[in-house]
This record gives sequence, C-alpha cells and structure tokens, in this order.
Amino acid sequence: MISEAHRRLRDATRADHDRLEHRVDILRRIAEPQARRRLVEGFYGLHRDAETAMAPWLADLPDLDFAARRRSAVLAGDLAAADGRAPDVEPVELAGRPEALGLMYVLEGSTLGGQVIRREAARTGVTMTGLGFLDPYGAETGPRWRAFLAVVDAWAAGEDDIVSLIAGARRGFALAEARLCGVPAVG
Ligand code: HEM
Repeated sequence: MISEAHRRLRDATRADHDRLEHRVDILRRIAEPQARRRLVEGFYGLHRDAETAMAPWLADLPDLDFAARRRSAVLAGDLAAADGRAPDVEPVELAGRPEALGLMYVLEGSTLGGQVIRREAARTGVTMTGLGFLDPYGAETGPRWRAFLAVVDAWAAGEDDIVSLIAGARRGFALAEARLCGVPAVG
C-alpha cells in the first residue's frame, strides 16, 4: 500500500513529471549524436550539483546507501564517451533532510522511466552504450525504489516534513527541467 508521504509526493509532482517527460523528448534525442551529447551533459550537471547539495543531509542516513545511489561517477564516464563537456556548477541550496529526500525522490524515480526508455531504445535499435546512467540499477530497480521509499517514510513522516519533501521534489523537477530542457529553474 502506498504511504501518505509517497502518495502526496506523487500527486504534487505529477504535472511536473508529465511536462518534463514531454519536453525532454528523450527518445528522439538519444537517436541523434549532438542532441544525445547535450542530454548527457544536462544529466551530468543535474546529478553532480544535486549530489553535492544532498550529501551533507543524506550521506550518513542508515539504510539509504547514498554512496551506491550516486550517479555522477557513471555519468562522468558517459560524458567522456559522448565527448561532452562538464557544464558549469550551479549550486543548489537545501534547507534540511526532508527537502534533500524530496530532491532525491526525483533522481531515484527517474530510474523507473529509465527502464521504459531502455526497452523502447532496444525496440528501435538505438544503442544504450554511454547511457548507462538512465538505467543504473537494471533488475534491481524495483527493490531499490521500494527501499528508497521506506527511508522516506522513516525520516519524513510528520506534516511539516511532508511539506518540505514536496518542496524538495518540486525543486528537483524544476532543476531537471532547467538542465535538460534549457529553461531557468523556478520554484
Ligand atoms: C522519456 C522520459 C520519461 C519517461 C518515459 C518516464 C516514465 C515514467 C514511468 C513509466 C514511471 C512510473 C513507473 C511505475 O509506476 O512503475 C515514472 C515514474 C517517475 N519518474 Fe519518470 N519518466 C521519464 C522521465 C523522467 C525524468 C527525466 C525524471 C526526473 C529527472 C523522472 C522522474 C520520475 C519520478 C520521480 C517517478 C516516480 C513517481 C512515483 O512516485 O510513482 N522521470 N516515470
């Protein structure tokens, strides 16, 4: 059964997700080398700057396994493979742990979409080489997602925490849209 925190996170960000999914246009971009490179650059900047901001709040959280969920190292390899350039750092400020978990919800949730993208790329014959970051967990995606949500429930259960979780998640979607679709981050 879905928890209160997860239901509210999902409901509050559904429109953000759907707009991002539509605008980012991943399947078209991964099929074209220039657009593919810019996509990898955007994801690299997003994860690098988000990880820097989240680490002070989340690195020591029991059961989260923050280090293993960091994706910027694999992204650095994908960036080099795409002959991409690391974008400028854009520091992200977070007010506390629930907000950091809300931001991480966006990055972890993207692994669910990554599975769909991988299947679709295979169907259309587009290579996923150099796009490992889109599907970092493979067959472990489901269990890792559920483990992440359990940590959210353990550390952000009260009303104030849920409000902060949602603020962090909406911020995450705004940052993703800015990095991946080239619009200024708002909200
Ligand atoms: C073409 C691009 C995308 C597709 C096709 C896609 C597709 C999906 C699908 C099918 C799910 C639901 C999976 C399930 O319920 O089992 C999902 C969930 C999610 N996606 Fe995406 N997605 C895309 C891009 C993104 C991006 C770029 C982000 C963030 C950077 C993102 C963040 C999330 C989040 C946070 C969830 C979890 C929602 C929940 O709480 O259930 N997605 N996506």
